Amino acid sequence: MRDLFAVFKEKNEIPEQYRIESREQREYLVDGKLKTWEGSCQEVLSPIYTKVGDGYVQERIGSYPLMDETTALEALDAAVKAYDNGKGIWPTMTVEERIFCMYNFLQKMKEKRAQVVNMLMWEIGKNLADSEKEFDRTVEYIEGTIEALKDLDRVSSRFVVEQGVFAQIRRAPLGVVLCMGPYNYPLNETFTTLIPALIMGNTVVMKPAKHGVLLLEPLLEAFRDSFPQGVINTVYGRGRVVIGPLMATGKIDVFALIGSATAANSIEIQHPKLNRLKTVYGLGAKNPGIILEDADIDLAVKECISGSLSYNGQRCTALKILFIHEKIADEFIWKFCKAVEALKIGMPWDGVAITPLPEEGKVEKMMEYVTDALERGAAIVNENGGTHLNSIFSPAVLYPVQEDMRIYREEQFGPVVPIVPFSDISVPIRYVEESEVGQQVSIFGQDYECISKLIDPMVNQVCRVNINSQCQRGPDTFPFTGRKDSADGTLSVSDALRVFSIRTLVAAKNTELNRKVLSEITKNRKSKFLSTDYIF
Ligand code: G3H
Repeated sequence: MRDLFAVFKEKNEIPEQYRIESREQREYLVDGKLKTWEGSCQEVLSPIYTKVGDGYVQERIGSYPLMDETTALEALDAAVKAYDNGKGIWPTMTVEERIFCMYNFLQKMKEKRAQVVNMLMWEIGKNLADSEKEFDRTVEYIEGTIEALKDLDRVSSRFVVEQGVFAQIRRAPLGVVLCMGPYNYPLNETFTTLIPALIMGNTVVMKPAKHGVLLLEPLLEAFRDSFPQGVINTVYGRGRVVIGPLMATGKIDVFALIGSATAANSIEIQHPKLNRLKTVYGLGAKNPGIILEDADIDLAVKECISGSLSYNGQRCTALKILFIHEKIADEFIWKFCKAVEALKIGMPWDGVAITPLPEEGKVEKMMEYVTDALERGAAIVNENGGTHLNSIFSPAVLYPVQEDMRIYREEQFGPVVPIVPFSDISVPIRYVEESEVGQQVSIFGQDYECISKLIDPMVNQVCRVNINSQCQRGPDTFPFTGRKDSADGTLSVSDALRVFSIRTLVAAKNTELNRKVLSEITKNRKSKFLSTDYIF
């Protein structure tokens, strides 16, 4: 029996470098100023509990503003003013100038690594290695974005001539972007929309997810000092209070959200001019792993463990259901369960895999899935599966899972692994076809003929087919998207630049007058858009 009591520590057992002072955030960034919020605040409770005597205390790590509608609208007004119908300083800057600002921000951001990483552990319970990876990956994402934009700009720095018409075709910003990130990658995924939106010349209102707010606070000064006034503004608080009214103004041009389809839809419909609103979404997924009868079982176990249980299964790309061929089910499940039992459980800085869950009611939700499956004939097949204490939930492996169980279709976004036996490959294929979501799939097998027969039907149902590999978003230069209810828009480093901009051109018939006009404008560098400057 796993001793979950030993997982939680007394305060004085926390290594000194990971201890935390509570952070009472009152600042919000609007119109280039860090203003102080005087109204009510949201307390932030960490998913981390500490032992006090015979009991446990959920650690309070700070608070942040619960803004009201008026203040949220101020943030929007600042973004609208900074965009100024496309005439603002930021949207009319040259690409090179915008890149310079972004570099500036990046240098300042790097100085905050330790603070942000520590807060990631305390605020969302992500383990140290993954928290560091999230920070470093975000830095690389920004560097990659800058390089991708240089490439894009180099291609656009020439004129094309077609059917007697000269044109310079570039990408121009769209306007005011509302960026909302998820709690599981509160830095990285928020920035995968924020950074391309900014660098393409849009102005932004950013609202962090409910969990993962305080970790962005160390970056507010860097935002203020790196970009012109009003280019980036922050709002905090309850979505219905601060987001609904922003949408209702009709002044948001792009809505970028990584989160649930329900949240996306309920916010989007509040915009009065839906055709004007562009949406960029990363939403739910229920990625299946399909393990064929000739799969390399050890390899499949390794990939499925990491695929289903990294960050406690709280990744949109996680493997959320496994289909196992009956002929190898016993061996796979035995090895899989042994690997689950070997996963260390503990505090994020303890070098562990399974950590506290940040969402209120999450442990109870996991138990509901387990209870429902047990009532309908499945069993917990791993030792200690489903044991829980405070915010810790020991991963539960459920087998055999069937269609009538909630876990078969619902996205658990947590440490429960449902396994479905099959003898006929039509079972997992039908699962994918009938699914409301369509992000990725993993196929495990060795026979290339069998694998190839699955690739073709799958690529038209999901947007990434992984062979003998877990599902994942990276490398970030690869397209990341989904079908059905899983996504809207594609978010690789270079695709995101396209998503947050629109192709715009200046064209002129090839006449002597026009040749002279175009030549004088470019030669004398009179336009930021119409320019043949080449970024080195
Ligand atoms: O939560 C969804 C993330 O995009 C997953 O990214 O596959 O790199 O963990 P990842």
